[in-house]
Amino acid sequence: MKVLILETADTAQERVVSLIAQTMRDKPNAVLGLATGGTMLPVYEKLVALHKNGGPSFRDVTTFNLDEYVGLAPEHPQSYRSYMNDVLFGKVDINLQRTHLPRGDARNPEDEALRYEAAIAQCGGLDLQLLGLGHNGHIGFNEPTSSLKSRTRIKTLTRETRDANSRYFRADETIPTFAITMGVGTILDARHCLLLATGAQRPMQSPR
Ligand code: F6R
Repeated sequence: MKVLILETADTAQERVVSLIAQTMRDKPNAVLGLATGGTMLPVYEKLVALHKNGGPSFRDVTTFNLDEYVGLAPEHPQSYRSYMNDVLFGKVDINLQRTHLPRGDARNPEDEALRYEAAIAQCGGLDLQLLGLGHNGHIGFNEPTSSLKSRTRIKTLTRETRDANSRYFRADETIPTFAITMGVGTILDARHCLLLATGAQRPMQSPR
């Protein structure tokens, strides 16, 4: 494991973008594991800018996001599918059919988690998994005490996580209680993991 402490958040975001771009150059049909949240917004902004300025194509790339809120349909403005469409997928030449997030509105979320785990395996596993870090140390929505062997499943969000993420919801919206998340074991199976943490706490601001 390598830990890089860089001078500024900007430099760290640029380093992350350059590692993602290198993965795509080395393997144009790479399988990328993606994250959402405030930390990733400048990363996707820089990745889109690079793509538009002669950077690598997403044409043959496949993506799997870490997680999705249970109960939110893809079209819901606070769903992670909406976030990804807004900040990345809608701005690059990716084939939307190859972009995957768990369905938050699946009739049976447990089955959806199993389906998602199997879909990752069917694509040959993740070449690079991008990660942020929750206020309580979670990765994906694997709250503290999650098993290192855990696979994609339903997790109950802690009060701390729901409070932290309330900044992304309007006051009249209900913050979901459950999420479907890749497990720690699923994440650790990725050929490379890249975790970005920029600052002790992000300012309370809307991601979009
Ligand atoms: C997002 C995710 C979460 C976030 C974490 C940090 O898909 O899985 O683990 O990376 O909650 O979120 P921000 O960057 O909003 O502080």
